[in-house]
Amino acid sequence: MRKVRKAVIPVAGLGTRFLPATKAMPKEMLTVVDRPVVQYAVDEALDAGIEHIVFVTGRNKHVIEDYFDIQPELLDTLKRTGKLEQLASLSKMQPAAGAISFTRQQVPHGLGHAVWCARDIVGDEPFALLLPDMVSFGERGCLAGAMELYQQTGGNVIAVEQCDPTETHKYGIVGKGEAVRGGFAVTEMVEKPAPAAAPSNYYINGRYILQPEVFELLDTQERGAGGEIQLTDAMRRLCESQPFHAHPYRGRTFDCGSKEGFIQANVAFALARADMRDLVLQPIAQMIASQQRRNEAA
Ligand code: G1P
Repeated sequence: MRKVRKAVIPVAGLGTRFLPATKAMPKEMLTVVDRPVVQYAVDEALDAGIEHIVFVTGRNKHVIEDYFDIQPELLDTLKRTGKLEQLASLSKMQPAAGAISFTRQQVPHGLGHAVWCARDIVGDEPFALLLPDMVSFGERGCLAGAMELYQQTGGNVIAVEQCDPTETHKYGIVGKGEAVRGGFAVTEMVEKPAPAAAPSNYYINGRYILQPEVFELLDTQERGAGGEIQLTDAMRRLCESQPFHAHPYRGRTFDCGSKEGFIQANVAFALARADMRDLVLQPIAQMIASQQRRNEAA
């Protein structure tokens, strides 16, 4: 079985759901507690054994490239002022030189097109794909679990979670087939189906392990849902000739591309952190209680 060494992270989206914040700053740089959203995806990839990150960027996203570079002045200052903990944490999350590549999606033709833009850098090997808006929250990263399933099944693996059955139109939805250890076979995939047309309520949560043949299918692909080149459509075609399995993620994913998901992620991550919990728990509990009182009085 071929090793998954590279991970593609598409970061070209305009972030219109987050205007005005995203007028001058990429949505991937919005912070959950004190780390940019994109850092969570990179950490998850490295934890899962990924050796090389491929960013598919767009115009006005230079700051992401700068963020993943070393800043000698900053490191010197931290060293000089004895802030060794911060220094160590910055070094720990720094991808090694040469272990990160950037390519551009020149026009916004959809997720399938963004992934296709990485084809030359990925080459002829399986790769992971992480959609950085979707931030995994759990005891372990979602991609690591998907990798375990991949080691057993080979082929292609998609991570899934269950959504409210009325919300299938927001996601890619998979059909559930035979169970395997740690997951199940995927029988079909539909991008953003109406609830009545959805094969299940298992939604694709933004973590994938894909075989390189998907690039050939994306190459010739017509537009699908929303007039965009859809990754889900290419995967459905690939599913006709290659195994596809789903890994149900045990944690929970926050959609940080939406305001409500972003706010929930900030609260969840802050409460999960030993250095933050006591600082935020009490004030948040008080805010909720007083809002409830206002609701009752209204
Ligand atoms: C994309 C995928 C979809 C997946 C979703 C997860 O949709 O096309 O299959 O469920 O990400 O966030 P988008 O959110 O880009 O519309």
